[in-house]
Amino acid sequence: MTMIELRDLNAHYGKVHVLQGVNLHVGHGESVALLGRNGVGKTTTLKAIMGLVRPTGGSVFFDGREISKLRPYQIPRAGVGYVPQGRGIFPMLSVEDNLFVGLSKRPPQDIIDYIFDRFPRLRERLKQSGGTLSGGEQQMLAIARCLVMQPKLIILDEPTEGIMPILVKEIRREIDAVRKTGVSILLVEQNIKTALSLCSRVYLMEKGLIAHEASSTDLEKDSDTLHRFLGVDV
Ligand SMILES: Nc1ncnc2c1ncn2[C@@H]1O[C@H](COP(=O)(O)OP(=O)(O)OP(=O)(O)O)[C@@H](O)[C@H]1O
Ligand SMILES: [Mg+2]
Repeated sequence: MTMIELRDLNAHYGKVHVLQGVNLHVGHGESVALLGRNGVGKTTTLKAIMGLVRPTGGSVFFDGREISKLRPYQIPRAGVGYVPQGRGIFPMLSVEDNLFVGLSKRPPQDIIDYIFDRFPRLRERLKQSGGTLSGGEQQMLAIARCLVMQPKLIILDEPTEGIMPILVKEIRREIDAVRKTGVSILLVEQNIKTALSLCSRVYLMEKGLIAHEASSTDLEKDSDTLHRFLGVDV
């Protein structure tokens, strides 16, 4: 069963044809990485899923229902959590207000307890303003804010970008913990090791298209492909 499926998804910025027919899917409880060089359209793909960029063609199906015609605020409510590139924290709001912003009522206490058990750093900083958190703490807050909504799928756009190694480890562990609860994951990540360790399957993107698909175990051994699409040696 698929959790999310993108069928021939197209998007433009003005006249620029940025997504040229993206096809991908993530199964129930599956974790999948979307990798590619800078500017190939990874963030745009995620924004198109979230309704933040209007697709100019194709469709997105989530949990058996087409969501590409929904309004942007309806998509998180349908069960898609989104942790944007650059985190999207409100710097002037407290940690607590950042967590519950946009919710009509406070989530159940067991959800709140679960989140603070996972991210004790946030519990200790509830009244601190979001903008004064370290980069890694802001990333944790962005993930926690997404978990508050109890999503079925979490989409993360470069969660470890610009974060020091010790916090990268912590964030990686938390994403893995979320994954183990059965939540599906679609991860965009520059760090190949992180992507391969968290995800079982990988899509490689090139200029607005999915150019290659492989299991993480196969890709790990395929240095030619890694070099060709990502310019890296693992
Ligand atoms: N709002 C915008 N208006 C015009 N062009 C844009 C806009 N946002 C992105 N682009 C362009 O669309 C292309 C794809 O951008 P996108 O952010 O999706 O790439 P990306 O794969 O996420 O890159 P990175 O790895 O650097 O985050 C780029 O060429 C970018 O310059
Ligand atoms: Mg991006």
